[in-house]
Amino acid sequence: MTQRELVAKAEENIPRVSAGKNRCRYHLLPPVGWMNDPNGLCYWKGTYHVFFQYAPQSAEGTGLHCWGHYASPDLLSWKYCGVAVYPDTPEEADGAYSGSAVGEEDHLSLYYTGNVKHKDKKYDYISDGRESNTILLRSQNGYTFGKKQVLLRTPDYPAEFTRHIRDPKVQKTESGYTMVLGGRLKGDRGAVLVYDSANGEDFKLREVISGREKFGYMWECPDLFTLGGDRFLCVSPQGVPHEKYKFQSTYSSGYFCEEACAENFREWDAGFDFYAPQTFFDGSRRILFGWAGMPDVPYDNQPSVAEGWQHSLTLPRELTNRNGVLYQMPVREIERLRREEIPLSQDCGCYELLLDDIAPGTKLLLSDALELSFGEEFELRFVSDAGRGRDVRRADVHARSARVFMDVSLCEIYLNDGEKVFTTRLYPQKNTVVLNGSCKAVRYAMNGYAIEY
Ligand code: FRU
Repeated sequence: MTQRELVAKAEENIPRVSAGKNRCRYHLLPPVGWMNDPNGLCYWKGTYHVFFQYAPQSAEGTGLHCWGHYASPDLLSWKYCGVAVYPDTPEEADGAYSGSAVGEEDHLSLYYTGNVKHKDKKYDYISDGRESNTILLRSQNGYTFGKKQVLLRTPDYPAEFTRHIRDPKVQKTESGYTMVLGGRLKGDRGAVLVYDSANGEDFKLREVISGREKFGYMWECPDLFTLGGDRFLCVSPQGVPHEKYKFQSTYSSGYFCEEACAENFREWDAGFDFYAPQTFFDGSRRILFGWAGMPDVPYDNQPSVAEGWQHSLTLPRELTNRNGVLYQMPVREIERLRREEIPLSQDCGCYELLLDDIAPGTKLLLSDALELSFGEEFELRFVSDAGRGRDVRRADVHARSARVFMDVSLCEIYLNDGEKVFTTRLYPQKNTVVLNGSCKAVRYAMNGYAIEY
């Protein structure tokens, strides 16, 4: 069977999978199978394009690794547009990995990593056995794509790197284009490669950024932008040691403000399920989508896997720079999903909860499963097995206000107008809210996105 036939066969299950009772209603999900990183985010000619890492053949992420594609005029009604990138050339035999999009006057350019793994027991797949090709793919209309062009191959990268180099994020500048790639230096140190190009096709290495001291062994999914006068370098580092309030997940993701050093690094999200985000500018705002998932974790998503799918993206979050700290809040469009106000005691799995004037010592029990404790520090703790092995997360933040978005099996919690965010998956049985303490609370039932498959 051809790759197109394999995907079509897997997608015959869309009607069954989309009826799963754990499916989120206002988050983007894989139509079937597995989803990971957001890719190619852009607003081009009046349409938001959200591509994503997609393995339609299996909810565990095995089989073909493609780019799936959603499009929307308003971030609320979405159309699934099928697979945009198939790994159908030798340069991407083991997956069309993550990358980005650049909208031009008359075409859309996708830049991504073609992953190739040579099959032999002798390889360690770090210093050998693996190729990462930087590939360009163009489209005249944003939906159908033309011929692929390999821009950089393994011998083109600097010799101080291992074979782990990937995830090109390209953007236009006044004089041309800049591309950042994530990588692992020999000696196991994370780094970003920065390239320049005049035409978007011929890229020249400008610098390698690896920080003042070692900060993890690999940096995935880099991003680079200026917001409110500061320059932010975003990376998803692997191998940063766990701390009480930081780096509690298997891997991390966050940003350096101005200089790349550990003291300047802030995590995007302190929950259990967040990794490999990407940002884009839509003409008026910088918006981030994250992958609401995390690889190599000691907990699972067996209930969604049993329904034939796994993982989702986060809500689109608008970023604001407050003195070098990036605050994240769902884009204002999401407020249009609010329906009627409902009491805390009502059983409803799709809601937004607004909390204000939270007195220290206040506790909140969400869906009989997730306990939030407010005080000098904030704690999120599972008190039932709805977390599938997820346990406790903490942050050193005194939260006075919060917005909680519960969407069937995904919860996003925004503290103090987006100063700290926690994203976690859960599989609850009963969806009430119990308040123990003092705060103002308003709860709205939420509509889902309008999604057309
Ligand atoms: C991050 C990542 C990327 C890679 C992609 C493959 O989650 O490992 O570095 O391109 O996933 O799916």
